[in-house]
Amino acid sequence: MEISQIDLSRVPEHVAIIMDGNGRWAKQQGEMRLFGHNIGVESVRKTLKAAQQLKVKYLTLYAFSTENWNRQKEEEDGLMELLVNTIAGEADELHASGVRLAAIGDITGLPASCQCELQEAIKKTQENTTITLVLALNYSARWEIMNAVKNIAQEVKQNNIDTDLITEELFQAHLSTKDIPDPELLIRTSGEHRLSNFLLWQAAYTEFYFTPVLWPDFTGEHLMEAVYDFQNR
Ligand code: IPE
Ligand code: IPE
Ligand code: MG
Repeated sequence: MEISQIDLSRVPEHVAIIMDGNGRWAKQQGEMRLFGHNIGVESVRKTLKAAQQLKVKYLTLYAFSTENWNRQKEEEDGLMELLVNTIAGEADELHASGVRLAAIGDITGLPASCQCELQEAIKKTQENTTITLVLALNYSARWEIMNAVKNIAQEVKQNNIDTDLITEELFQAHLSTKDIPDPELLIRTSGEHRLSNFLLWQAAYTEFYFTPVLWPDFTGEHLMEAVYDFQNR
């Protein structure tokens, strides 16, 4: 698959990815699960680069779900450490290539060091316009929807809004994706065919693309294949 096969005038503005299969990939190599997560960072780099070439405007990556706290402590700690180190290590390069970093999810539930690096990188890159890289961290769509409901209920209670004014637009404005358009294309790797609590509201009309490729094997070319498939539906 080459970029020349893609109609650059009809590339999805927002692509979301459920990056899955790091653990299985590591097992196949006879390695620890964390090794798979580490190699998965390389796939993030490749995918982001290809998304920039395609002029995708928003790339959302499901990096850590609220349910992922159910994993072994060792894996959780390793994932958080990887996250902190990656964000800290990549911030300058992201900035140099015009990437604006954003995050969705319950960021306050992340370790302090992680929140700190994240906020710093978000601030540093806030004026960039090439692409917005949205990291879903400690994210769960049900949490996000519940949170919106609570906030709206609070506003109604304080007489700030009338219930008649609760529209789809108002609801959307209370989600953590409030400034982000809905994804046109959602990719899940590793052969699983579920949403796993990702973007439930936002994916109402999204096209899904499933591939058996495990995340650490995913490259820019795979992203192009998904976009090509999307364009030929
Ligand atoms: C996805 O890979 C990465 C995260 C959820 C952080 P997994 O860790 O879910 O890998 P599998 O599904 O066990 O292979
Ligand atoms: C979804 O993958 C979450 C992320 C990619 C961060 P999981 O591997 O955690 O999902 P389930 O548990 O298989 O549904
Ligand atoms: Mg998984």
